[in-house]
Amino acid sequence: MRNRVLINRVAGCGLVLFLAGCALKPSQQATLYDRLGGNEGVTAIVDNLLYELAGNEKLIGFFEETDINRFRTKLIEQLCEVSDGPCRYSGDSMAKAHSNMTLNRSHFDSLVNDLIAAMDANDTPVAAQNDLLARLVPMYDEVMHPQKYLSDADQY
Ligand code: HEM
Repeated sequence: MRNRVLINRVAGCGLVLFLAGCALKPSQQATLYDRLGGNEGVTAIVDNLLYELAGNEKLIGFFEETDINRFRTKLIEQLCEVSDGPCRYSGDSMAKAHSNMTLNRSHFDSLVNDLIAAMDANDTPVAAQNDLLARLVPMYDEVMHPQKYLSDADQY
């Protein structure tokens, strides 16, 4: 009788551990790219961002001469790479891309707000949103002060 109770307990624990293992594994293995919804999610986020930018009077002027198809493609690649997805960013350095603009903190904040709105519109989980924003933060200085990072070759 005692043996049977013990066996049930061991089997019960095994089941609990198995379920715990199943519950933990996917989130432990998922990349940020997966949590953003993979290619479909990242593409939707960038498309939502373009929509937000189109209605942003503070920022839209910067994009007057921009080839929007290229911007869209490069941004999708960049967000894919930075979130550990299977892409390689093939665009310009952040310094070169932003070298003809004089951006200030309020421009940067406005773009970040648009990106958050774009992710909200796509039902991106808040934790994944914060993780993506944290990976973009290190680019802040290069975007804001491109001249510090440009090589002579970039300038001509
Ligand atoms: C961490 C923040 C930012 C990231 C990751 C980022 C990313 C990018 C990328 C990937 C490109 C395309 C580069 C290429 O064509 O090779 C680009 C271009 C551009 N970005 Fe940003 N950007 C950021 C901040 C900003 C801000 C704050 C503005 C303000 C309006 C801005 C305005 C632009 C414009 C206008 C272009 C197109 C430039 C052109 O026409 O050649 N970006 N950015």
